[in-house]
Amino acid sequence: MNQHFAVFGMPISHSLSPRIHAAFGRQTGIALDYVAIEAGPADFATKLQAFADAGGVGANITQPLKGLAAELATTLSERAQRVGAVNTLVRSEDNRWHADNTDGTGLIRDLAMRHGLDLRERRTLIVGAGGGARGIAPALLDAGIGELFIVNRTPERADALADMLGRPGHVHARYLGDVAVLGEFDLVINATSANRGGTLAPLPRSLVGRRTAAVDLSYGEAAIPFMAWARATGCYAAIDGLGMLVEQAAESFKLWHGVRPDTNPIFTELSSHSAGLVTAD
Ligand code: ATR
Repeated sequence: MNQHFAVFGMPISHSLSPRIHAAFGRQTGIALDYVAIEAGPADFATKLQAFADAGGVGANITQPLKGLAAELATTLSERAQRVGAVNTLVRSEDNRWHADNTDGTGLIRDLAMRHGLDLRERRTLIVGAGGGARGIAPALLDAGIGELFIVNRTPERADALADMLGRPGHVHARYLGDVAVLGEFDLVINATSANRGGTLAPLPRSLVGRRTAAVDLSYGEAAIPFMAWARATGCYAAIDGLGMLVEQAAESFKLWHGVRPDTNPIFTELSSHSAGLVTAD
């Protein structure tokens, strides 16, 4: 019998996750179905309960629900607890949700293994301090990056994330408007949701040095402006979030099924025609 999985978020209709997990299921011979369920903060708890009642055993969580999912879960992994953001739920035998976050591991695997980036001592800027930023920041620190600056439109959220990470002197929060005085970075990561319903003001060229890699956590259409900025400013690499999406999916798959699928076939298939796709996860 098929096991039931879903991804929850809003918007969700263009999500690639059902396609990715179906491909993983075929590759590993595991019978599953995986659907996209649209839910916002107001109805997520109800829809998650209905999903569980109908036999759902695992879920991915995307924006804007990553923080709320952390509150709804009964138990959290250390990495999810550290930042209060969740992208994976696993239902336990006693019908409770255990929460984890595979975004950070997914990003590191994509950058280090697929793109061959050595992250150690890389001076890093994260633009944004929402659920996406919180999911990746601890993994970047664990991967040995150099100084980390977090800039956000709402400065209090950058402060809160820096406090959560707990590495004073190594992690700094700044206001987005002051980004021009921060110097050059080896890694510039767009973790805002700006292009999914707004516009991120162009970042200054002064951030870019000889070996700057620019990374967008979004992919497809949502990543186009930031990827264009990266190319126009001469970044050494411009990497969108498709690889991270596939890698975090594989990590979630492993949590649910105990086996990590090969991500290369589906990454190749999706990257050949991803430019018209719009949502993350
Ligand atoms: P996600 O889970 O995708 O991170 P989120 O938790 O809603 O979604 O966070 C969205 C992030 O994008 C926040 O850092 C947000 O900035 P604020 O904290 O100031 O709201 C940022 N963001 C969204 N639209 C933006 C815009 N037009 N310019 C700059 N930052 C923006």
